[in-house]
Amino acid sequence: MNLTIKEAFTVFENYLKDYKIENARLETRILFCRALNLLPTQIFTKEKEVISSRDYRTLKSLFKKKIKGYPTAYITGEKEFFSRNFLVNKNVLIPRPETEELIEWIIYNTSKEKKEKLDLIDIGCGSGCIGITLFLELNINCLTFIDISRKALKVCQKNVEKLILNDAANIEYIKNNFLNMKDFRPFDMAVSNPPYVLIDEFKQLDKSVKDFEPKKGLLVKNPEVFFKTFFQNVFSLLKGGGTFYLETNPLLIELKRNLLSEAGFSDIEIKKDLSEKNRFIKCVKK
Ligand SMILES: C[S@@+](CC[C@H](N)C(=O)[O-])C[C@H]1O[C@@H](n2cnc3c(N)ncnc32)[C@H](O)[C@@H]1O
Repeated sequence: MNLTIKEAFTVFENYLKDYKIENARLETRILFCRALNLLPTQIFTKEKEVISSRDYRTLKSLFKKKIKGYPTAYITGEKEFFSRNFLVNKNVLIPRPETEELIEWIIYNTSKEKKEKLDLIDIGCGSGCIGITLFLELNINCLTFIDISRKALKVCQKNVEKLILNDAANIEYIKNNFLNMKDFRPFDMAVSNPPYVLIDEFKQLDKSVKDFEPKKGLLVKNPEVFFKTFFQNVFSLLKGGGTFYLETNPLLIELKRNLLSEAGFSDIEIKKDLSEKNRFIKCVKK
């Protein structure tokens, strides 16, 4: 075909526009960087270079996936979260910007409140974006990841190897249904972004989420039953004075406030996200 990078860029950008893909230019840039192994600025500094037929085939296959609705993060295998690149695949939820807000809140509070090193547990860890980021940003002694999905835990482990070069000895992985767990060693802090999409909401989700992201990571079929046991278990694994942080569906705030209180938690605080929705909860085991 002998197209230059610049010419091919226009062809593929127009291809995405024809299929009404949002942010066609940005998506084209991300997929070009991935296929041609370039930094974003190199797309322009190398624009006159001719693309090899092998690279052109790679570009075609990535753009075909995009047209079919694959989330870009699954095509590139990466997602930026809190300024670090996390490996992702179809077995883990793609880290969301709201979860970065949860991390900011935890860092802000913890830096003020705690001086000693913390034992932290990330429940439903998925890619490990929460636990790994907190490990790198706070004074963490031991970090435990739990997920019901073995494949998700594998991605988490790869992210630990990629992003936490030292101290990996202080990290453990548990593959289990958190609801069935009985014995825990005590932790200072528990963090979770559990599944929280309700069945009716699931049907309304964007195709790129509904058709590609793991249902186990998103859907909660019976929130009252699920979170009752979930919160009782979190309560029993925390030390006295331990803190629990949680991301949630705004529609479930009142249910969760009640269930947390029934489980024995105090000082329940609700925080809004940047879209002014009640999204995060902090509570304490006194
Ligand atoms: C919303 S995703 C969150 C993933 C990651 N923490 C994040 O914020 O991107 C929820 C995760 O919880 C896991 N999960 C769902 N039910 C679980 C259970 N009963 N026990 C343990 N993990 C569970 C799912 O496999 C999924 O990885």
